[in-house]
Amino acid sequence: MNTLKIGGRIRTAVFPVAGLGTRFLPATKASPKEMLPVVDKPLIQYAVEEALAAGVETLVFVTNRNKRAIEDHFDRVYELENELLEREKPDLLDQVKDILPRSASAIYIRQQAALGLGHAVLCAAPVVGREPFFVVLADDLIDSPPASGNVLEQLLGIHERHGGSVVALERVPREHASRYGIIQPEKIGERLYGIQSIVEKPDPGQAPSDLAVIGRYLLMPEIMECLEKTGRGRGGEIQLTDALGQLLATEQVLGYAFDGTRYDCGDKLGYLEACVELGLKHPQLSREFKEYLIRRVPLLEP
Ligand code: G1P
Repeated sequence: MNTLKIGGRIRTAVFPVAGLGTRFLPATKASPKEMLPVVDKPLIQYAVEEALAAGVETLVFVTNRNKRAIEDHFDRVYELENELLEREKPDLLDQVKDILPRSASAIYIRQQAALGLGHAVLCAAPVVGREPFFVVLADDLIDSPPASGNVLEQLLGIHERHGGSVVALERVPREHASRYGIIQPEKIGERLYGIQSIVEKPDPGQAPSDLAVIGRYLLMPEIMECLEKTGRGRGGEIQLTDALGQLLATEQVLGYAFDGTRYDCGDKLGYLEACVELGLKHPQLSREFKEYLIRRVPLLEP
């Protein structure tokens, strides 16, 4: 049983999708990295399904002019639906028709300038209002055991017990510290840490620990005031990490080392791993795909 599924308490999720996807060129030259498919669904759909399962009703996409495909993906396509109806393909029809339930609303906000993740979250402030909200980075695809609930549900469980903002954490090799926000932790309990300080993409020698922030955040609305005051940081961008650092001065911020496996799908190797693992779990493909791998793997040379 899923004991952490509380749902409905956090109504809004923000999906910053205006990034350039430079680590995945040339695939991302003309189409958004969030539309890269893992088996048969784009990354953004996995992220949206995770938020909906955690009880979210309002989906806020912070986009730019090259991301129209995301808007189209969550819209209805009547010509395609009619065609599938006429060809008597009810399964396919269900898959394209009900990507978003009627109870959910999708809101698209343009990020006018590429000023970073913090700026993207701040763009969503008029929609978020004075309530806690989630931030979901779709290129971190996370597969969690059903018994633990998805990562957003896990963060929600911690928030309900302890209050305040909660970010997802994962231990990373020290030499990878410069890819992540890294925290200085104070251990509170099983998987749970108080955040003493946080630094965006430190040099490995300067990293305060090996606990990295992964792309799932449950944030108190006060983060918006912090973001308004945050100047440009690492890479000349307004960093969410720096705003969290400010929030720490007035409020507790917790980190939770989530239960699940993360695939960094903004990276070519992480993406390939996700395709293999989710292919092996896919209800229609798993058997044949596994048979293929069993035939193929012994032929590999080290
Ligand atoms: C962003 C955040 C970083 C975080 C990471 C998680 O970086 O700035 O703090 O650790 O997401 O994926 P990005 O990957 O967008 O460069």
